[in-house]
Amino acid sequence: MGSFIRYLAVLTVIFILMQFIPSYEKKNPKTDKSKEIEAPKEVKAVFRRSCYDCHSNETRWPWYADVAPMKWVVRRDVEQGRKALNFSLWKEYPQKRREELKKRIFRSVNLAMPLPQYLWLHPDAKLTQKDKDIVQNWASDAKGYVDIPVR
Ligand code: HEC
Repeated sequence: MGSFIRYLAVLTVIFILMQFIPSYEKKNPKTDKSKEIEAPKEVKAVFRRSCYDCHSNETRWPWYADVAPMKWVVRRDVEQGRKALNFSLWKEYPQKRREELKKRIFRSVNLAMPLPQYLWLHPDAKLTQKDKDIVQNWASDAKGYVDIPVR
């Protein structure tokens, strides 16, 4: 029993110390609404539901974004997600970058997005076949897009 208590105490201390390890800031930078992406309502609805938490400045932060070790994962995903693609800043992107991103979005809905660790806690964000069709239909006007058959 004594060693169990000691074990628990050590774990507790580690957990507390972990909270002091710095990670990315948790912030939603104020952004001019006029820079946000414009897309048909049904397309935007999919993005808002399944992508905006990591790909916009309107992240809905969960409580565990404040608790290590979960916060390391959440904050990193948002930081890197925004860097790769930020729907809140879409209109700042030069035309070329938008085209490129559209191609990548086209592919991402089949392959990788939303990330599995996110879907695990946000099952509603999972894309249905209809959602994928809506997004791909929108993205497919990008010049030279590749329709990779991976369904
Ligand atoms: C849990 C956070 C998260 C969610 C939700 C999410 N993404 Fe991502 N996404 C990322 C991260 C992180 C990266 C950067 C990955 C990297 O740099 O390797 C990324 C990268 C991307 C890229 C660039 C990948 C490439 O080919 O270069 C696209 C496009 C993308 N996401 C689209 C989407 C779309 C569309 C959705 C919604 C259907 C979505 N993402 C939802 C975290 C997320």
